Amino acid sequence: MPFIFFQNSPEMKINFLRANHHTEPIGYDLSSLSISWIPESNDAKRPNWSRVEISTDRFFKDIVSDSGKQALNSLDYQPNIELAPCTRYYWRVTVEADNGETATETSFFETGLIHTPLSAKWITTPDAEQTGHFIIRKQFTATKGDARLYCAAAGIFEATVNGKPVTDEVLLPGYHPFNLEMPVMTFDISNILVDGDNVIELHVGRGWYGTSMGGWETDNPPFGSIPVAIAEVRVDGKIIAQTDDTWDAYPSPVVDSGIYLGEIYDTTRESLSAIDAPSKKTVLFTETIAPLSDRFSPPIRRTETLPVVSVINTPKGETILDFGQEMTGWFEVRNRMPAGTTWTLEAGEILDTDGNFFRDNLRKAKALYTFTSSGPDERWIRPHFTFYGFRYLRLTGYVGEPDPKDFRGVVIHSDLGITGSIQTPNSLLNRFFLNTLWGQRGNFLDVPTDCPQRDERLGWTGDAQAFSGTACFHMYTPAFYGKFIHEMILEQPNYDGGVPFVVPSVVKWYKTKSSHSSSAWGDAATVIPWNVYTYFGDKSLLRKMYPAMKMWVGYIERQDETNGNHRLWQTGFHFGDWLALDNFRNPSSAFGGTDAYYIASAYYAFSTELTLRAAEVLGEFADAEHYRIRLQEIKQAIRNEYFSPNGRCTSDTQTAYVVALAMDLVPTEMRKRCADILAEKIRNNKNALETGFVGTYFLCRVLGDNGHADVAYDLLLREEYPSWLYEVKFGATTVWERWNGQGPAARASDMSMNSFNHYAYGSVEEWVYRGVCGLNPDPSIPGFRHVFLRPLASKKLGEARLSFLSPCGVYESEWKINADDTVSYRFRIPFGCTATLEIPGAPDTLPKTLEAGVHTFTV
Ligand code: BGC
Repeated sequence: MPFIFFQNSPEMKINFLRANHHTEPIGYDLSSLSISWIPESNDAKRPNWSRVEISTDRFFKDIVSDSGKQALNSLDYQPNIELAPCTRYYWRVTVEADNGETATETSFFETGLIHTPLSAKWITTPDAEQTGHFIIRKQFTATKGDARLYCAAAGIFEATVNGKPVTDEVLLPGYHPFNLEMPVMTFDISNILVDGDNVIELHVGRGWYGTSMGGWETDNPPFGSIPVAIAEVRVDGKIIAQTDDTWDAYPSPVVDSGIYLGEIYDTTRESLSAIDAPSKKTVLFTETIAPLSDRFSPPIRRTETLPVVSVINTPKGETILDFGQEMTGWFEVRNRMPAGTTWTLEAGEILDTDGNFFRDNLRKAKALYTFTSSGPDERWIRPHFTFYGFRYLRLTGYVGEPDPKDFRGVVIHSDLGITGSIQTPNSLLNRFFLNTLWGQRGNFLDVPTDCPQRDERLGWTGDAQAFSGTACFHMYTPAFYGKFIHEMILEQPNYDGGVPFVVPSVVKWYKTKSSHSSSAWGDAATVIPWNVYTYFGDKSLLRKMYPAMKMWVGYIERQDETNGNHRLWQTGFHFGDWLALDNFRNPSSAFGGTDAYYIASAYYAFSTELTLRAAEVLGEFADAEHYRIRLQEIKQAIRNEYFSPNGRCTSDTQTAYVVALAMDLVPTEMRKRCADILAEKIRNNKNALETGFVGTYFLCRVLGDNGHADVAYDLLLREEYPSWLYEVKFGATTVWERWNGQGPAARASDMSMNSFNHYAYGSVEEWVYRGVCGLNPDPSIPGFRHVFLRPLASKKLGEARLSFLSPCGVYESEWKINADDTVSYRFRIPFGCTATLEIPGAPDTLPKTLEAGVHTFTV
């Protein structure tokens, strides 16, 4: 994984030109257009002025918007321009720096349908409900030009024109609440369209739309059982092909597939879909289908291939391929088997204690790939309509010894670009950093998921909110989270403003419980928007996400009102401090020991506070006033109900104090007492944590921020169970769902819910960025335009080094403890940014504010 080094460029440069956080987007939602760029300079400190010009032609003759030279916000410039549908706009940005240097860079964005209709029709095949998969094709004549394919599917699809893929994106159209909105994908096919005869082909399967999601569900598939598609080809704006009932329909060589099932592929059926094979005609699909929309999802791509590191013959006599890394994606295989042979690969995460293949923890997910050969072949074959979370593959039915070179692992995720890296002298900690990054790569597949392997792979909101602070350091996430919150907003009205446990909402079992929204899970509606704003500084995106925040807090307020207006949330079902180790009454329970209604009330306060801050930023003053009063009332009610006057909490757990400090529930004079009690509890517990999903997220951060960095370091660097590095020593290559996932303590855990790629506990990495390396964005000047540098140098680690490509440019922060106990620091502040230095115990001679450039000193 790369360490991002600052590119020492002699000249000023402008990089990362984006529209609504996408690079050169085509067909994406560009409503409330926000454009951004990153100017970089070696010598200059800040811009004198910037200028953005937008034109409908690449030579900038037809300028439709010109900002003129002024102080523009490079994180979120909102041009005043009415965008036309299906139109390409070119834009160029010029920046002059304070040393007189200038730079100019150009880019483009292209609008999608913007709610204008397609004239194409939704189609399927006569037997699609039974087969679940089909190939549809249309031959058409065209003259080369500026050609686009607009395409959507209730299902999952791959599209080619003249046999060539229309995109390098995979698993299209991604994972959405298909009952509420159908995103249209737009592809530029100008280079693959030819003069004369052309043929367009769509290979369609069930995907997230039409196969079981949610494992335990009864009313599956969640959205529909008949895959359907719609497509329209336009050249220079004129429709030249469109789906209707004249397309040819062929059987697919995919015999069956499903997100949890995997895929069954029969090469001998490939001839059935040859262009001259007998075909049927497509049929129009006339049932109601959700409205089309421009897409929000960043592309899902293959980002890396990994070789087999060893072929293992297990005691049971199984043949296992080991990729040495837990990943999410596919595998590709060169089939060497004679015609008629059927072989199978099954995905698994771990080997059992005897060294045999193990996958009981995948529950109902079969996660297999079965392939029937039509003879040896040099092609790399692969699944089409599914993905797997795996490190190991068990191979059955393969005749002879497999050659490792005939197999490769393909890593697939939303391709957001990795932005953060941290290095220390502690190799276990460095490996843990990579594990959290692999966890994000494995669980950022269009939706932030809990895990990628078992029969869930769902947009669990609690996991998503806990990890979001880390995720925004690791990758460029605003478009990804923007999509998630957009879809959450679509769901919320169906849940009285609440937030269903998973988004897209495909599990329905809470209908039989007392509620559909849980604290700390639904708070994804406030935590993620506020984190995205803090990290990326895009006010227009915050405005788009604000309805999620408001609806969620409104929902909690109504729960409070119906329970007597106590300014607490003390009703309904809550996951609480999920998977904590302190449920001493029932150690095998997944519910932690902290009072779930205390946590719910704390999050009531926290979400109200975040929504208050957002209202202030957005100038929603009436809302702000309401939330300000409400917040005081909630905090007072929490103190009355849950705290002694001296600051002891009635729920006497580590998490209870973590939450009190993180969510500012106790008055300032009580903070020290709370922090001391927390530190003492950890010391008395032999320096071991007991926290679950809720407490772990803030644990080290509140210790570090409240005078107990030594305790935070002891937790972080602990190698015995339970700890983060215990997993690493155990050979983990991603983050475990449970502290006791494997090893001697695993007896206490439940194999039916035991994933080895669950990023929630990886949330501590946010403290490694913020606390250990000291880089803290300032929410009042967001997007890393201004930061607080508060590194907590410690002999326990000796040295740390961070590099982060922020939306304003590259930050670096390094410290090293010298032999004479002095500490050397080095910081890089990007162009246009400032930092406030807050090094504990630093002498007054140190500057308080740092400007762009490199700063080194020893304290
Ligand atoms: C998931 C989670 C989720 C939890 C809710 C589990 O099955 O994998 O990570 O947050 O349920 O409690």
